[in-house]
Amino acid sequence: MYEDRILNSALRDKIMSADEAAALIKADMKLGFSGFTSAGYAKLIPTAIAAKGEAKNLTCITGASTGAELDGELAKAGLMGRRYPFQSNKDSRNAINAGAVNYADIHLGMLPRQVRQDVFGDLDYTIIECCMILEDGSLVPTLTVGATNALVEKSKKVLVELNTSVPTGVYGMHDIFNPDEGHAIPIEHSNDRIGTKSIACGVDKIAGIVINENRGECPKFKPVDDVSQRIADHIIEFLRAEVKKGHLPENLYPLQSGVGAVANAVLAGLSGAGFKHLSMYTEVVQDSAVELLYDGIMDNLSTTAVSLSEEGLSKFYDNFDNVKDKIIIRPQDLSNHPEVIRRLKLISMNTAIEADIYGNVNSTHISGSKMMNGIGGSGDFARNAGISIFMTPSVAKDGAISSIVPFCSHVDSTEHDVCVIVTEQGLADLRGLSPKERAKLIIEKCAHPDYKDELMEYFNHACKTAPAKHTPHDLAHCFDMHERFIKTGTMKK
Ligand code: COA
Repeated sequence: MYEDRILNSALRDKIMSADEAAALIKADMKLGFSGFTSAGYAKLIPTAIAAKGEAKNLTCITGASTGAELDGELAKAGLMGRRYPFQSNKDSRNAINAGAVNYADIHLGMLPRQVRQDVFGDLDYTIIECCMILEDGSLVPTLTVGATNALVEKSKKVLVELNTSVPTGVYGMHDIFNPDEGHAIPIEHSNDRIGTKSIACGVDKIAGIVINENRGECPKFKPVDDVSQRIADHIIEFLRAEVKKGHLPENLYPLQSGVGAVANAVLAGLSGAGFKHLSMYTEVVQDSAVELLYDGIMDNLSTTAVSLSEEGLSKFYDNFDNVKDKIIIRPQDLSNHPEVIRRLKLISMNTAIEADIYGNVNSTHISGSKMMNGIGGSGDFARNAGISIFMTPSVAKDGAISSIVPFCSHVDSTEHDVCVIVTEQGLADLRGLSPKERAKLIIEKCAHPDYKDELMEYFNHACKTAPAKHTPHDLAHCFDMHERFIKTGTMKK
């Protein structure tokens, strides 16, 4: 049984049920999990741990977000005590915002180093989705590497969920390399391979193997709407103009694109925009990026996770032999490494929750206190990219919230890391501008008409009353719009 997936015959004796694997997990344990943006995470074992309900106060470390079977089930069962470094599940979000889970939101590129630095101590188990285990116990992940290699290094034992819905042909797509060993990283092009094809583990570390024949839940994307289409149009116009001025080559520099509906729409917009031979050096690849490969517009993709919708995944496996060699899946400390991001001069495109008139960006918190998902890799890329673009619809919640505000209620990427802000209203290229010049441009180009007057009034008032005139603020009133929203349910006067 499973000779083609478990190459070491002795390991086949370690096949067990999800309930047997779950029984190994006790209260207060520290657990690593594979998984990044709802791809490549174990599903049956965490669900069984949750159903058992005994292993309370677990420390859960993943690459990034996972899905309902992991974050959702453990949070709903009240077993999650600590969570690192990113999540996007509604149940874990609710538990975090209720104060029941200690969550630390960490730059995804930094997490593996912190694991190796013993910030979290030794892990009792790491629970990993794989599609193959090699003769020497090395693990072949599914469509994600994330932080799995670092988590395995720091784990006493490993539980494998062998997912047989993923073709064994995935072996060869991964590029495992540890940038913390101190060597220069020899990646000069997004498609350079520098590492190994599997994660070193060792036969003895593997405590059990659970077979999963199902795909599990796939991410769902909102269809491209008018607002995301207009954001995409502004970005494409900007990139075309940069090419025309000779600032960018015709095939651009490698692209990085964030998660979510807007990011997916922007990449979809690149199809038919006349660009050719594009490449990506990114942390997550969604449906629209892979579509660009099928269409021959994108030459290659480097990522740490391939995170596709149900239909996207079916199409991917149908076209697998044509695209497999064009995708490299690397650890997240390599996909998000400052050295490579700088060398490749990436064009990074991430989504903001809000941006302020001076160009600071909030990617994580609603009204300063409520965690949405986390900073993810946006900070890794924004700080080091050749051009860092932040995009957001100009309003949220049917217009009740302006995404352009006088002062962000929380700052993830500072004015120093933000080159361009774009909404469906327009695009503000902030490079080379002073704070006051930025404020005028952001209000003029990006703010929704419903909020323009109030933003301009605030700016003019701050310019008159602020004790210093470099970045004028009135600290007593800079959060008036947020306070009005909290009190009345809308930022509108
Ligand atoms: N105030 C309140 N809610 C806001 C808001 C604001 N200023 N801006 C957005 N939202 C809400 C939306 O209304 C929506 O709520 P819903 O789920 O109840 O409909 C939710 O946030 C998601 O926004 P949406 O417009 O659907 O965009 P998205 O799916 O592209 O997600 C982020 C946007 C910012 C939450 C998401 O991109 C993210 O988590 N970013 C941080 C991580 C990151 O950048 N990683 C980058 C590398 S992968």
